[in-house]
Amino acid sequence: MTTRRLVLARSAALVGAASTGLLLPQIARAQSNRIRVGFMLPYTGTFAQLGVAIENGVRMAIAQQGGKLGGREIEWFKVDDESEPSKGVENANRLVQRDKVDVLIGTVHSGVQMAIQKVARESGVLNIIPNAGVHAATRGLCAPNVFRTSFTNSQPTLALGKPMVDKGLKKAVWITWKYAAGEEAFEGFRESYTKAGGTIVKELSLPFPNVEFQALLTEIASIKPDAVACFFAGGGAAKFIRDYAAAGLKGRIPLWGSGFLTEGVLDAAGPAADGIMTTMHYSDSLATPRNQQFRLEYAKAFKMQPDVYAVQGYDSGLLLVQGANAVKGDLANKPALYKAMEGATIDSPRGKWTMSRAHNPIQDMYLRVVADRENKVLGIAAKALADSGAGCRLAA
Ligand code: PHB
Repeated sequence: MTTRRLVLARSAALVGAASTGLLLPQIARAQSNRIRVGFMLPYTGTFAQLGVAIENGVRMAIAQQGGKLGGREIEWFKVDDESEPSKGVENANRLVQRDKVDVLIGTVHSGVQMAIQKVARESGVLNIIPNAGVHAATRGLCAPNVFRTSFTNSQPTLALGKPMVDKGLKKAVWITWKYAAGEEAFEGFRESYTKAGGTIVKELSLPFPNVEFQALLTEIASIKPDAVACFFAGGGAAKFIRDYAAAGLKGRIPLWGSGFLTEGVLDAAGPAADGIMTTMHYSDSLATPRNQQFRLEYAKAFKMQPDVYAVQGYDSGLLLVQGANAVKGDLANKPALYKAMEGATIDSPRGKWTMSRAHNPIQDMYLRVVADRENKVLGIAAKALADSGAGCRLAA
């Protein structure tokens, strides 16, 4: 049948269907032709702003590419995961089973990601992790359908120890939330700091997402280390920075951390944040046209300044666009989709990066200092840093 005759035959069938009231399935099919994209992110709690920044970034990247994925329209779905691991499987299944998403973008919290990881491995649904750094996701529990655009929890802190020791800060107290992200950030810190000749004199922690820091700050004051190093993020990070200054420690004991400490919180923390030193795969002040253009457009679109979470969301959008375009929107063509995503170079505001074999970014880590409510880049603390991917077995 020629194309023209096929079209005519189809429209005749449609007219017939309409007159017999059978048009509904046609419409349903037309709708399901849209790619279903689900966000599973925290929209409440201490990480609420992180979820919003990630969603903004994803939407901006896709909008800049014409708002479609491989030529197909998008239907969006959203679940608030509340950074609550015990609800993780149920929330992931809302998107996977109920909404039948083609791709699940999530999440922020490492414990919740472990639940998504289970659902992704069992269902085979494509999962893009726009933040959560839990090691297992791209180590022992890695999967062909799971890609991370952010970091592993130890990546930023693997770059932290040496610059501290180089500044003569040889005895440090470590403080964090007691859950996977804090514990794995500590692994990176311990390795880099002790290797550079530093000694960790005390490890302090409190349960996630507690922000009752007072007793721990009093303990730090009595220990009098050369420096404090930490992992905190989101609303809790802003409070930690303010409490650290209010306890009289700012200016007496230098505060260092993985860069999440000073992401998205500089307005809330105010001058208390000045002078904090961090390592991170992004910096507001990166003087590249790519970053400057991204920052301008993000600020214009969302009336707020982007942070590392917005960048990670943006890169998740870029990765999805590249994958979907390579298979012309046919996300069911998994071998070709994964191959395209594995081979992608992401032209990110943080600088170009590529995927490791285990599906985690190989990226530069910057040394930064807070000044005038901005993370200012001081230099590169680690070049093309890759996570070990230990225990991940994916076919090449
Ligand atoms: C995590 O739980 O993996 C996590 C959360 C917030 C961050 C970084 C890591 O800023």
